[in-house]
Amino acid sequence: MAQLWGGRFTGKVDPLMEAFNASLSFDQRMWKADIVGSQAYAKALAKQGIITSEERDALVQGLGKVAKEWETKSFQVKPSDEDIHTANERRLGELVGSVAGKLHTGRSRNDQVATDMRLWLRDEARVLLGHLYDLIRVAVDRAESEIDIIMPGYTHLQRAQPIRWSHWLLSYAWGWQADAIRLEQLISRVNQLPLGSGALAGNPFNVDRQFLAQELGFEGVIQNSLYGVSDRDFVAEFLFWSSMTMIHLSRWSEDLIIYSSGEFGFVTLADAYSTGSSLMPQKKNPDSLELIRGKSGRIFGDMSGFLMTLKGLPSTYNKDLQEDKEPMFDAADNLSGCLQISTGVLTTLKVHAAKMKQSLSNDMLATDLAEYLVPFRETHHIAGHAVRLGEEHGVPMSQLKLEDFQKLHPKFEADVSQVWDYEKSIEQRCAQGGTSRKTVLEQISNLRAWLGDRSDKKRKVH
Ligand code: ARG
Repeated sequence: MAQLWGGRFTGKVDPLMEAFNASLSFDQRMWKADIVGSQAYAKALAKQGIITSEERDALVQGLGKVAKEWETKSFQVKPSDEDIHTANERRLGELVGSVAGKLHTGRSRNDQVATDMRLWLRDEARVLLGHLYDLIRVAVDRAESEIDIIMPGYTHLQRAQPIRWSHWLLSYAWGWQADAIRLEQLISRVNQLPLGSGALAGNPFNVDRQFLAQELGFEGVIQNSLYGVSDRDFVAEFLFWSSMTMIHLSRWSEDLIIYSSGEFGFVTLADAYSTGSSLMPQKKNPDSLELIRGKSGRIFGDMSGFLMTLKGLPSTYNKDLQEDKEPMFDAADNLSGCLQISTGVLTTLKVHAAKMKQSLSNDMLATDLAEYLVPFRETHHIAGHAVRLGEEHGVPMSQLKLEDFQKLHPKFEADVSQVWDYEKSIEQRCAQGGTSRKTVLEQISNLRAWLGDRSDKKRKVH
């Protein structure tokens, strides 16, 4: 079959150009969206009396057969199939005859491809959202069952203050929750109908776009046809979302990679998510987490590359926009993998509470010593002296004598010995958002409430 646009051309296309122009190798994964969109469009044409109801049925059923072929992997691609839209239409013609030519009445590949992209991404994003909910749920479950475990909290990767392991877990769960909320909001912006915009100026047959939106499950209709065919902000936004989520996964991975090293020994990854070395028999490497950390760079590349593609494009459709698909697919595939692997890693991770506790040291309570003197002034300075004194005597601060403390400040009394209690230090941080048991439990219950009705939403998707 000749190309859709063959009419005005006389010369032959360079075969290299034909291959260069084609997108079927990657856009065929939108076959379902393309079929569903065309079925809805056939119904809309019949509604306007542009085709008869028999023709509509022939088109809808014929498209159903094409879909079956994709589903059963029996669809035969022809060299002239430029993209998924031409491939489906060519095959439809072979199955139902000349009526296939009527399907494209008033429609352009410009509004068709924008519709396919939005349908595909909407459905994919819902699946990703389900994976993200799963990950958050595992973090919250662990935070609850392991609330007694305490560990060093770090700033600058230096031991800073004791915290609950659950508090660390939840710090990532909150970031992921923000990612999930962003994705929920993004889905609504993706889920708007461009079909019925024509090539750019609008549809000349007054197709009922509200009807099309309803048929295809869109939340609204795009109000300007030029915008409808040219807008790819939804792809850019998805790529930003992917980048941000990957950065969260990457930082989380980095923490766990450090914590799983021999020097820390806080956690052990399950064999299922580790690999060995081909040379050193003792090695167990956290490859799963390293790959997640590594892929974050590539996803950011998808985003920055596509933003550069968009920059400076003149009004409406330009072929540059065909470059929207590969980064979108790449980001979606990798996010799907990374989210599910993260859930697996976190579900099976072993935590070594004793090792975490052993890594706590008295100097991490220097802040508590300073707080002991509040509301007296210069408490920070005095506690600093105590740290130095301990270092000079070569003993932990808890071994300093009461007289030593009293030399630093007369308000130190015998109960200063009670400062040297990690659990107590943790429990003192009980203002909302702190690491105390009460405030960690509050976080757990708030995240659970938020997750609550979302598990039902997720089931609806599949
Ligand atoms: N394969 C094209 C794309 O992905 C479809 C739209 C083609 N439109 C056009 N005017 N050439 O962007």
